[in-house]
Amino acid sequence: MAAAPSSVVLASSNAGKLREFSELFAGRGFTLARQSDFGIEPPPETGSTFLENALIKARNAARISGLPAIADDSGIEVDALGGAPGVHSARFAGEGASDEANLDKLLSALEGVDPLRRGARYRCVIVYVASAGDESPLIGEGCWEGSIIAGRRGTGGFGYDPSFVPAGDTRTVAEIPAQEKNLKSHRAQALGEFLARFSRGR
Ligand code: IMP
Repeated sequence: MAAAPSSVVLASSNAGKLREFSELFAGRGFTLARQSDFGIEPPPETGSTFLENALIKARNAARISGLPAIADDSGIEVDALGGAPGVHSARFAGEGASDEANLDKLLSALEGVDPLRRGARYRCVIVYVASAGDESPLIGEGCWEGSIIAGRRGTGGFGYDPSFVPAGDTRTVAEIPAQEKNLKSHRAQALGEFLARFSRGR
């Protein structure tokens, strides 16, 4: 593996994500910097897959900062809606929509749909590029299968969690303790795969 860089840009301005990623990468010989520290604005997410969008964000941050970059992208796919909202999960009910409005729209779209036809999954992709033109990015992917109930239950989590029940469970993710979610989720799975590859040096 090439010598570890001393600094890597996280292509997100979310303080929570920076803290989470910083903890995970602790002791690996480099520090993580937020893209806003370099004055980098998030680029338009014009990709049609989570991987494309994560790469758009990572390459943009690497190009402007001149440093390696890490980015993630995630969302939910609903079978009865042909995979929507997918990459549009954060803005399903419109640009800047709240989690509540997005979930309202999803539940309305599924009104009257048979419980057996409400399959869905959360997906997450995490990528690392050594430079903007890196042709072999390091990728970690996670997928959490489940279904969408009619209505909401629970107060934990965020986004679509009050209506998403993981396969093999009866609780919504909003009823699952955060520690348990963090072991099982699409994000946990993507990070696990990513860190294993990162440690191996690709
Ligand atoms: P982003 O990856 O931060 O852009 O998140 C995309 C969107 O997907 C979020 O705004 C949520 O609507 C949805 N999402 C991603 N992960 C989760 C999750 O763990 N629970 C609920 N919603 C999620």
